[in-house]
Amino acid sequence: MFYLKRSDPEAVGFLKESIARFRSMFHTVFAADNVILFNRTLGFRNDARFMDAFNRNARNRQEASLLLRLNTIAWAGAQVSHIPGDFVECGVWRGFCSAVLMDYLNFDRLDRKFYLYDTFEGIPSEYDSEKHDSPLFREAGLYDSVLQRFARFPNATIVRGVVPESFSEALPDRIAFLHLDMNSSKSEIAALEVLFDRISSGGVVVFDDYGWTGYRAQQVAEDRFVQARGHRILELPTGQGLLVKQPSP
Ligand SMILES: C[S@@+](CC[C@H](N)C(=O)[O-])C[C@H]1O[C@@H](n2cnc3c(N)ncnc32)[C@H](O)[C@@H]1O
Repeated sequence: MFYLKRSDPEAVGFLKESIARFRSMFHTVFAADNVILFNRTLGFRNDARFMDAFNRNARNRQEASLLLRLNTIAWAGAQVSHIPGDFVECGVWRGFCSAVLMDYLNFDRLDRKFYLYDTFEGIPSEYDSEKHDSPLFREAGLYDSVLQRFARFPNATIVRGVVPESFSEALPDRIAFLHLDMNSSKSEIAALEVLFDRISSGGVVVFDDYGWTGYRAQQVAEDRFVQARGHRILELPTGQGLLVKQPSP
């Protein structure tokens, strides 16, 4: 799936034709989620455990298009296997990203917790700094379906409420993995204000929207936040941002 400025049949047809032509010009073409790659190995697709976790959890075309983003998340989750701390996602919605990661890592067998924070009722108006709320974020039965989705993980804690206020209900002391995906710079900075100091040295943060033009405000605010703490975020071609927590000086 691609996110187009114009999604009329002419624009969609042109994109499809172009991709078909690229296939005749290059040995391999990967095209999804506004990324087109030519002649890349994409070797992570040989990881059967990852591909199974991804395919088992992708429930629609949009989720199925997020393979590269989920590879980043799976890498980050596996990367912190020797780093102390729990896992956190702020912005859960239907739970797709965390479900893939938890399946991939067999998280129920790990001696760690996974904290999942969301209102399950959309971006609160007082935090919707860039007006990215969507009726999809408050679809009927959302919270119950997420409870069901993660029921097989006894070490998952689902915290319903507004971030960061909901942190008062449950909050890990130390964090090894953080996925920020709230589509709002105000929500994400408010989360970072509380969470950043709890991230272990070597812990990883994945910022879902960091490099997308529609979310530029997040990049500006997050760069300012981490630079003030001596860190830098790597902008990935997927549009995600990646940060590895450095030891305190
Ligand atoms: C893009 S969705 C998350 C997608 C999800 N990571 C996935 O795997 O599909 C953004 C979510 O952030 C939540 N959200 C945004 N601001 C929030 C806040 N301040 N507190 C709690 N949830 C928030 C919204 O309710 C929405 O469900």
